[in-house]
Parts: sequence; C-alpha cells; structure tokens
Amino acid sequence: MRILVLGGAGYMGRVAAYLLAKHGKAEVRVTSRSQDKAKKAADEVNKRIGSALVKPEAVDVESKDDLKRSMRNADVVVNCVGPYYKYGLNTIKAAIELGVRYTDICDELVAAKEIVKLDGDAKKAKTTILTSLGSSPGLSNIQVQYSAKRMDSVSDVHIAWTSSQTDPFGPSVMKHCLHCYSSPHQFIDGQLVQVAPFSGRQLVEFPPPVGKVDVVYFDHPEVLTIPMYVKGVKNVTVRGGIFPGDIHDLIESWVKAGASLMDDYDVDGTNVAAVDFLTSVAMKIMQGKKDLPAVAAQRIEIVGKVGGESVTHVHASVGTMASGTILPLFVATMMLGEGKIKDYGVLPPDAIDPDLFFEEFKKRRGAQYTQVGAMFDFRKTN
Ligand SMILES: NC(=O)c1ccc[n+]([C@@H]2O[C@H](COP(=O)([O-])OP(=O)(O)OC[C@H]3O[C@@H](n4cnc5c(N)ncnc54)[C@H](OP(=O)(O)O)[C@@H]3O)[C@@H](O)[C@H]2O)c1
Repeated sequence: MRILVLGGAGYMGRVAAYLLAKHGKAEVRVTSRSQDKAKKAADEVNKRIGSALVKPEAVDVESKDDLKRSMRNADVVVNCVGPYYKYGLNTIKAAIELGVRYTDICDELVAAKEIVKLDGDAKKAKTTILTSLGSSPGLSNIQVQYSAKRMDSVSDVHIAWTSSQTDPFGPSVMKHCLHCYSSPHQFIDGQLVQVAPFSGRQLVEFPPPVGKVDVVYFDHPEVLTIPMYVKGVKNVTVRGGIFPGDIHDLIESWVKAGASLMDDYDVDGTNVAAVDFLTSVAMKIMQGKKDLPAVAAQRIEIVGKVGGESVTHVHASVGTMASGTILPLFVATMMLGEGKIKDYGVLPPDAIDPDLFFEEFKKRRGAQYTQVGAMFDFRKTN
C-alpha cells in the first residue's frame, strides 16, 4: 500500500509513518514544507524500523498544485497537518477532486462543520474521506457508538481529555487548544450552542497515573457528529485541558482581561498573531517541566437506558497523546486501504462499525492494548 503522510515530520505524523511502515508494511512518504525536515523525519523512522520504506517529500498544503502532485500517487492520504481550523478543509477538497481515499485526525469543530457538507461531493467522486480518527475525536466517538449499540436509548455523553505538559506534541496542538478555548460550543438540551470560554469547569478523575484534573469546555467535533449518529441524545459535552494548569491559567487570564486569542497585535510596527506568540510562550514553559510523567488520558461517560433501567458506561484510556491518537488513525487507515470500509462519502468516526473497528484493533501488531473492562491502556504501544 502506498501512503502519503502529510505533516509526516510533525509529532503525530512521525508516529503515523512508523506504525504504517512497520506494522502496515506500507510504502510511506512523509512530508514537510522543508525537504531537510522531511528527510530527517524519514531517516529517523527508517532507522527505528530498520528499513527504507519511508521517503521524504517537500509539500506546502497551501499550494494546491503541490498538494495534488503529491497526492496523485497515493492509495491513501493521511493528513496530520494542523491546526485543522486553518488547513483541514482545503486538503480534503483536493483529495475529493482527485478521487483519492483520505484519513485525518481533525479535531476542530469549525472545520468539521464544513467537512461534513462535502459528503455529496465525496460520494460523487466515489471516494471515502475518514475524518477525525484520533483519540478525541476518534476513539471517543467509536466508544460512544459501541455503548449506544448496547443501549435502547442514550441521553447524555460526557467526554474529557487531558495531557501532561511533558507529553510530546507539536505547536499545532497548542494553536488548536488556543482556538478551542476561545469560542467553545456544546450540545445542550438538543441544541448546538456557544458557551463562554473557560466555562463548564469540572474536576475529572482520569485513570492512574493521571488522577484528578480540572478541565473546561472545549470546541471539539464530537458535539456535532455524535448527535448526527446517536438519535435522541440530549447532551454531548467535551471538556479538556493540559496539566498542570499554569498554562491554562495564563491563557484564561488573557481572555478574562478582554484580549482575543485569535487577533493580531502591533508590536513595534510588526503584526504578531496572539496565537503564535502564546504558543511560543506555552511551548517554552512546557520545555522547562521535567519531573512530570509524559502521559495523556481520556474518560467518556455514556448515560442511557436498557429495558427501562438507567445505565452508565464509562470508557477510560491512558497512554501518550501520540499513541492514543495515532493507533485509531493507523487502524482506520489500514481498514480503508484494505477495503474493509467500503462506503463512499465523508465519514466521521461515528460512521464506522464499532465492533468491526475493535476487532481490527485487537488484530493489529503495534496496536497492542489491554482491555480491562472498558479501560484502554496505550502505554504498551510499540
Ligand atoms: N484528533 C485527535 O485526537 C488529535 C490528537 C492530537 C493532535 N491532533 C491534531 O493533530 C495536529 C498535528 O499535531 P502534531 O503534534 O503533530 O503537531 P506538529 O508537530 O506541530 O505538526 C504539524 C505539522 O503540520 C505541518 N504543517 C504546518 N503548516 C503546513 C503547511 N502549510 N504545509 C505543509 N505542512 C504544514 C508542519 O510541517 P512543517 O513545519 O514541517 O512544514 C508539521 O509537521 C494538530 O493540529 C492537533 O490539533 C488531533
């Protein structure tokens, strides 16, 4: 299988290239805007797996010609270029124009709202766009579907994610966080509504070694797609945050002082985007943190009814952001490449049969996990 990993020199992209080449035996091209960075990433992955399956390529996704040239020879395009509020939509449009199969880990509600509207175009082009196949969104939606299939009705879904400051992720993740903090939406009482930034604060108990973390409303696509697939659900909330909370507090104080996170500011005659400045500050603060475990976790609660009785399912997972995100992407990409997902159109993770997905998950080397009740432990990923 020939796979193009856009953003393959980033944190998530490198793990995707590794799993696809090592365990998927795929020929993988990894891209960056810089040929040198792409080569460094390809060399690193090849060295780790002792092969030459991974090749570098320079691609700027803002250039449609670049993008199409690169996508043309791929069986599946895997897009890890973020933040998705900026880059998500046009890359999918190019994939549809070429009729190439595509997966991503899009975690932006604003992008997801536009992406689902491309369903008809993807069907016409006889291609499949699997979007938002990370951890949250991604695994979270599939876990909700898994429980919904086992309930007569679902009333509430509450999703929470967290990641430590030492867990490796790139600047795109920080930009995404700033964007999601600034104008969160939630599905409350059957309506998608805008809520105040930093509202919905809750102390959530994540699996060890994480424990209790303060999380707030976050602008993720689950609040859009879960109600599309779980009919009758009343409330879908997503909360998130990086711990410890100093970065969170810094960003919150900025918003409370009335400064927009998404505006540009004039600094001695130079236009500086707050999102770029704050991302640099946050990344520097995080680099200074040493004695914290590099860990990420999720907790998902589904409330519904079975035979007239109220039931609650809880799914929890722990690992790193990269393992928790890229294992679902890897499994879904292999399923798509091997023809196990056949439907055309734009498919959010909710559209995938959860039982088939977890069966594939168990089978994949490199996608090792232990399932204790509904607890996924991604720390054993290799
Ligand atoms: N769904 C989920 O559960 C989930 C979980 C984690 C992360 N994510 C999302 O995944 C994304 C990637 O995370 P990460 O940690 O890998 O971030 P990262 O290390 O910053 O990587 C982002 C990549 O995007 C590339 N890029 C940026 N602009 C580009 C352009 N114009 N053309 C081509 N490439 C471009 C960068 O390439 P160069 O700088 O090398 O050109 C970089 O390799 C983030 O947006 C994050 O929000 C989703």
